[in-house]
Amino acid sequence: MTTHQETHHDTVPAATDPATPASGRVTVIGTGYLGATHAACLAELGYDVLGLDTDPAKVADLAAGRLPFYEPGLAELVERHTASGRLAFTTDPREAAEFADLHFVCVGTPQRRDSMAADTSHVTAAVSGLVPHLRRDALLVGKSTVPVGTAAALALHARSVAPDGVEVAVAWNPEFLREGRAVEDTLRPDRIVVGVTDPLHEKVLRELYAPVVDVGVPFVVTDLATSELVKVAANAFLATKISFANAIAELCDAAGADVVALTDAIGRDARIGHQFLSAGLGFGGGCLPKDIRALMARAGELGVDEALTFLREVDAINMRRRSRTVALAVEECGGSVLGRRVAVLGAAFKPGTDDVRDSPALNVAAQLQLQGAHVRVHDPRATATAARTFPTLGYADTVEDAVTGSDLVLHLTEWDEYRALDPAALQPARRVVIDGRNALDAERWAAAGWRVCGLGRPAVGAGVGPAAVSR
Ligand code: UGA
Repeated sequence: MTTHQETHHDTVPAATDPATPASGRVTVIGTGYLGATHAACLAELGYDVLGLDTDPAKVADLAAGRLPFYEPGLAELVERHTASGRLAFTTDPREAAEFADLHFVCVGTPQRRDSMAADTSHVTAAVSGLVPHLRRDALLVGKSTVPVGTAAALALHARSVAPDGVEVAVAWNPEFLREGRAVEDTLRPDRIVVGVTDPLHEKVLRELYAPVVDVGVPFVVTDLATSELVKVAANAFLATKISFANAIAELCDAAGADVVALTDAIGRDARIGHQFLSAGLGFGGGCLPKDIRALMARAGELGVDEALTFLREVDAINMRRRSRTVALAVEECGGSVLGRRVAVLGAAFKPGTDDVRDSPALNVAAQLQLQGAHVRVHDPRATATAARTFPTLGYADTVEDAVTGSDLVLHLTEWDEYRALDPAALQPARRVVIDGRNALDAERWAAAGWRVCGLGRPAVGAGVGPAAVSR
């Protein structure tokens, strides 16, 4: 891990002859959600792109124009540009080093197994793998979400492994794309942020992103450390906003109030806004949970952990949503889920993706199964990825398969198709649904004879009595 001092610009080598996209060629190192999207979108913008990954199976799929995961609109771009010849993939770093002088680093930075910090070893490995093969000066542009100070340390590392006479510089260009909207967020972002140590690098990136920036997207130029922090601060703010809504939901439960009406009312204040204010089962995925933890860990390393201790509460509120949902399921099954048939609608961490990393829905499904419930999970896209992570859960191909004969239905990922269900047509053993996303039309379900329990709002429908109100 680097020290804060290492972020000073004078420790960072400047490229004498920076890479230029004038050649129209770039590489993208790491072809997961971020890298594959970035590579395909750059090809869509007209560049020749080579994606580099260490995973031969992933590279074989992508090179054949197949996307190894679900992301709306991306498969079409990958197919189109592998066919047009603008997008290719390799596992060979020598090929990447030869191909271009501008290299984007898009590898993952998961949470370390032994701490809350981010594991930046893939970022270091990406640089160690590429740079010794460079024969010309190059600019590495990091897009991965990293602890502040990583970019400066990486610049020193790159210089130490570069061949004699080859200058390698580092810039940072954090990514803000959301899974499920990755293509749209990349081609039409709210802003582009670049952290640079040399005005020439700014020029290179401005030129590269000209097709995006020219239609009015703000281009924010800053130093390396600030650009790294912009990204994690944005995710921490979003996580905090969600947990704020969920903290108020706990209060609403205790007071018999309705958090959906409440957040609708406060969100109308333009200073607050409705986005990321939906109370329910809370946040999951590969980013928000690990990013707030990594930010706390980095603040600790920098001696300012007090500044971010509130993020512990943000995390704790979020994790309580899962136990609250399990407790509600137990309560609705009369004190135990042992032997109960439970249908879980949703496995992805949010709609629009097949990603189940830290999925609140799967976490709840697994907890119920551990308590003896017979759980059947349905998801329009994510049952294959879910089954790889939780192979012992039951999976259903259709909503009807999951729900028919069940004692309890849990709605845990708000796919449109669940909202569009006809509650009257479903055939459970008992018409009780826990809406973990407060997204179903409760009145419509109640009218079809269901008891509907939300999170942070009173239950409605059949069987609502004093017990439900006092909950
Ligand atoms: C998040 C950020 O939104 C992106 O800007 C960022 O680029 C990305 O992380 C990243 O770091 O790469 P993502 O992980 O795709 O994107 O998911 P979000 O759309 O942020 O949703 C995160 C979680 O919050 C989901 O589980 C969602 O269900 C939950 N959520 C969202 C709520 O519980 N309530 C809300 O009001 C909104």
